Amino acid sequence: MSNRTFTMVKPDATGKGYTGAIIDQIIKGGFSIKAMKWTKLTKEQAGEFYAVHKERGFYAELVEFMSSGPIVAAILEKDNAVADFRKLIGATNPANAEEGTIRKNFAASIGENAVHGSDSDENAAIEGNFFFSFLERF
Ligand code: CMP
Repeated sequence: MSNRTFTMVKPDATGKGYTGAIIDQIIKGGFSIKAMKWTKLTKEQAGEFYAVHKERGFYAELVEFMSSGPIVAAILEKDNAVADFRKLIGATNPANAEEGTIRKNFAASIGENAVHGSDSDENAAIEGNFFFSFLERF
């Protein structure tokens, strides 16, 4: 069990002005911020970040969407971070997300689902390293 996970507030949510409310819900959920940046991915960077989904039918759409506007990337800390964060954000498809979860509150569809959350300790480390140097995390 690791105590860190990685998240992004996605372009749909930044574009709708939900960034502050989402970060507030994350902090109230017991997570502390160890690194954070507001940035925008190129198509190439979005493709690299989601390379694990390359063979999936939705990959092109995902890359297009994730490079369509600004995102907020962050490394978060809490006991049992990966599992607890996935609980806080809810199911990938907001239609299946539990009441009160971030995706239920802020996401519109499975493609435009407001936030990303790492699915394992290993991927949390890989994804955090994708965005942050050791000088940018505390
Ligand atoms: P995320 O947690 O960022 O990880 C991979 C993303 O792919 C996922 O959230 C969704 O935004 C996206 N995704 C997964 N399934 C589909 C789908 N069927 N159609 C479009 N996008 C999808």
